[in-house]
Amino acid sequence: MPRLLIAYASLAGATAEVAREIAEELSRAGFTAEVRAVADVDRLDGYAGVVLGGPMILGWHRAALGFLRRHRAALQKLPLAVFVLAMRLTQPADTMVGGLPVLVDEHLPTPPAVPGRLSLKERYAQLGNYVRPILAAVRPAKPAALALFGGRMEYGRLPWWAVIFAMAVIQAPAGDRRNRPVIRAWAASLPAAMRLAPAPHAEAHALAG
Ligand SMILES: Cc1cc2nc3c(=O)[nH]c(=O)nc-3n(C[C@H](O)[C@H](O)[C@H](O)COP(=O)(O)O)c2cc1C
Repeated sequence: MPRLLIAYASLAGATAEVAREIAEELSRAGFTAEVRAVADVDRLDGYAGVVLGGPMILGWHRAALGFLRRHRAALQKLPLAVFVLAMRLTQPADTMVGGLPVLVDEHLPTPPAVPGRLSLKERYAQLGNYVRPILAAVRPAKPAALALFGGRMEYGRLPWWAVIFAMAVIQAPAGDRRNRPVIRAWAASLPAAMRLAPAPHAEAHALAG
């Protein structure tokens, strides 16, 4: 069966859980989906494609960006899909970034308080600011799929510095904003977006069912 790597960086566990859900969906589609923390991945040999997830934590999680930079050469030849978890997003006028469409969970964005005049916080939480560093880290290759999902904020799970930053800058209320149907639908769309063929017997199953 074609092997896919579902790699994640996570501070408080929400992204790791999403990675496991995506892997479940891909297994159901006939792939061997291996879930690993980015720190546990040395090489990408033997994988037919990579799905990488990370939360916004003072920019995209450093370990996720580091993964892209470390494996940049290998990722020029492997199909890559990227997902981002976030608690704040300023309503984008356009969900294309650098010529690529970004799937944005429609429940996440909030319109600016004063249309046409963004506050500092609203400017910070723009889609382009979140996604451009990801595109830069893998250039000249481009992800085959990119998604921004709502995340989870649980102050009790965070180190003190993260609580201070999240309260002062992100001002995200506690709660779980992960939208399972959107995440699973995106996962189910990945084989086509990444041009991956499942194992022959999975196709046979699908045809038989
Ligand atoms: C220190 C810190 C910084 C964060 N920065 C942002 C941010 O810039 N934009 C945003 O939308 N969410 C931000 N968040 C919210 C996280 O992206 C969200 O809670 C995510 O689901 C965390 O995933 P994890 O549980 O895998 O670490 C931040 C959270 C923390 C704790």
